[in-house]
Amino acid sequence: MPDIIVESRGTTAWVTLNRPDARNALSRELNLRLQEIATGLDEREDVRAVVITGAGDKAFCAGADLKERRGVSAEDTGPYINAIAGAIYAWGELRKPTICAMNGSAYGGGLELALACDFRVLVEGAEVGLTEVKLGIMPGAGGTQRLPRLIGEARAKELILLGRRVGAARALEIGLVHQVVSRAGFVAAVDALVAELATCAPLSVKSAKSAIERGYGKPISEGLEIERACYDATLFSEDRNEGLAAFAEGRPPNYRGF
Ligand code: COA
Repeated sequence: MPDIIVESRGTTAWVTLNRPDARNALSRELNLRLQEIATGLDEREDVRAVVITGAGDKAFCAGADLKERRGVSAEDTGPYINAIAGAIYAWGELRKPTICAMNGSAYGGGLELALACDFRVLVEGAEVGLTEVKLGIMPGAGGTQRLPRLIGEARAKELILLGRRVGAARALEIGLVHQVVSRAGFVAAVDALVAELATCAPLSVKSAKSAIERGYGKPISEGLEIERACYDATLFSEDRNEGLAAFAEGRPPNYRGF
C-alpha cells in the first residue's frame, strides 16, 4: 500500500496518511507527496473540500519521522526541513475548505499539519502537542505562528515552551480543535461536517476563507478592503443568482462553483 492515499468521495477528496506502523510519521517521501497532493487538489475543479486523516487508531500523525531524520546528513538538513515545511505550508495555502479528521493523537509536524487546516475534529482519548522543545528543536512548520493566532499567546506559550501534550477535552476547551467525538461516531461526525459544507456555495466559501486569512491581524480598514475585494469575486457569479432564485422558489440551491 502507498504511504498516502487519495480518494474522491463525491466532491470531497479524502487524503489518508498511511504509515500506521510508524504512527503516520512524516517521512521525506510523504512530505513531498503531501505537497504535490495539496497543490494538485487546489487546482481540481471537481473537488470542493478536502479531508485529511490518518490510518489506524493510534495516531493521526506523530510528526516528523524522527528515525529517518537521525540519518540525514548536515548538508541535507536544510532541504529535509524544507520538505516538511513545504508540505504543511501547501496545506495552509489550499484555497478550498480543509478538514483535519484527527483519528488519533497529533504531535509536532502532525499537529502543525492539523493547524494548517480550517477544521479540526479530534477523536476522544487522543492527545495533541507541539513537543519539539523536548527534542532539542522547535516547531518549524508554522506552529509558533498558527497556534497563538488560534488559541492566544499565553496558552500557545504553555504548549510550545513546555512541549506539553494535552488531552482531547483540554484541546477542545482552549479552542485548539472544533469538535471532539467518540471513536464510534467519528466518521459520521466528519461526514456531517462535509455534508454541511456541501450546502454552501463553493466560491463563497473560498472567498470568505481568503478574506479571513488575508485580513486577520491587519488594521480594520485594510481588512475591510480585503473583504470587499473577496466579496466582489462572488458578486457576479452564477451561484449568487442561483442562491437568490432558490430562496425565492423555496427550494434547495444547486451550486456549481462559478
Ligand atoms: N518518527 C518515526 N517513528 C515513529 C514516530 C516518529 N515521530 N513516532 C512513533 N514512531 C514509531 C515508533 O518508533 C515505533 O516503531 P517500532 O514499532 O519500529 O518500534 C512505532 O512508531 C510505534 O510507536 P510507539 O511509541 O510504540 O506507539 P504508541 O502508540 O505507544 O505511541 C506516540 C505513539 C506517537 C505517542 C509515540 O510514538 C511518540 O510519542 N512519538 C513521538 C511523537 C513526537 O514527539 N513527535 C514530534 C516530532 S518533531
